[in-house]
Amino acid sequence: MRTPIVAGNWKMNKTIAEARELVAEFIPLVKNIPDVKIVLCPPSTALLPVSALLEGTDIGLGAQNMHWEVSGAYTGELAPAMVSEFADFVILGHSERRAYFGETDESVNKKIKSAQAEGLIPIVCVGESLEENKADETEKIITGQIKAGLKNVGANLVIAYEPIWAIGTGLAATAEVANNTIKIIRAVLTELFGADDAQKIRILYGGSVKGSNATEYFSQSDIDGALVGGASLKATAFAEIVVAAQKETVK
Ligand code: PGA
Repeated sequence: MRTPIVAGNWKMNKTIAEARELVAEFIPLVKNIPDVKIVLCPPSTALLPVSALLEGTDIGLGAQNMHWEVSGAYTGELAPAMVSEFADFVILGHSERRAYFGETDESVNKKIKSAQAEGLIPIVCVGESLEENKADETEKIITGQIKAGLKNVGANLVIAYEPIWAIGTGLAATAEVANNTIKIIRAVLTELFGADDAQKIRILYGGSVKGSNATEYFSQSDIDGALVGGASLKATAFAEIVVAAQKETVK
């Protein structure tokens, strides 16, 4: 049995004051939800204040990116050890990083290795574009991203399947389609890590998840939670998704 993860990717949103306000409102809403691992991924500036507010709760903290080098002349970047001072998780290879900041499967691979060496759990994002989806290339693209991105890494990671065309668009993939792709992902993970480890890896769906559609995803056989963007920016909306995950887990 895999404990589901509901992770909120705040992207480039929330000042420290806004972050504090959101977290203070959110914590009481998810007080009695023991079977779901919640992870908040604020922008880097809010990692420290949010970590202070999460003390004494089971809510995890994640960064949205990091560099693979341990230190040095990399202006604007954060090293793994800087991230792990506050966070337990780190999102790597998000499609926005791949599209706007030149991330490749190769850089994602280096980052996963450095994150794991630092004790961080990577949330590795994969997903196909609309064109690739229409051309029936989803399986090929996802398999390529996973095999290259996860080359020689440890199995202590989380995968987020996020079809690019479903991110921030309101055009969520249907739960069945997402579940089928996630089954393909688990088959590739089985090739890479063996069946035992592959069964333990959580695979999340991401792309326009909200309270009103969350249950459809969480009721699928192979979807182990969600990576949530827009709907994680409001405490009540994000808590609704966490509650949906809890209900499916105890069912
Ligand atoms: P969305 O973003 O929920 O706003 O579609 C998901 C993500 O990019 O992780």
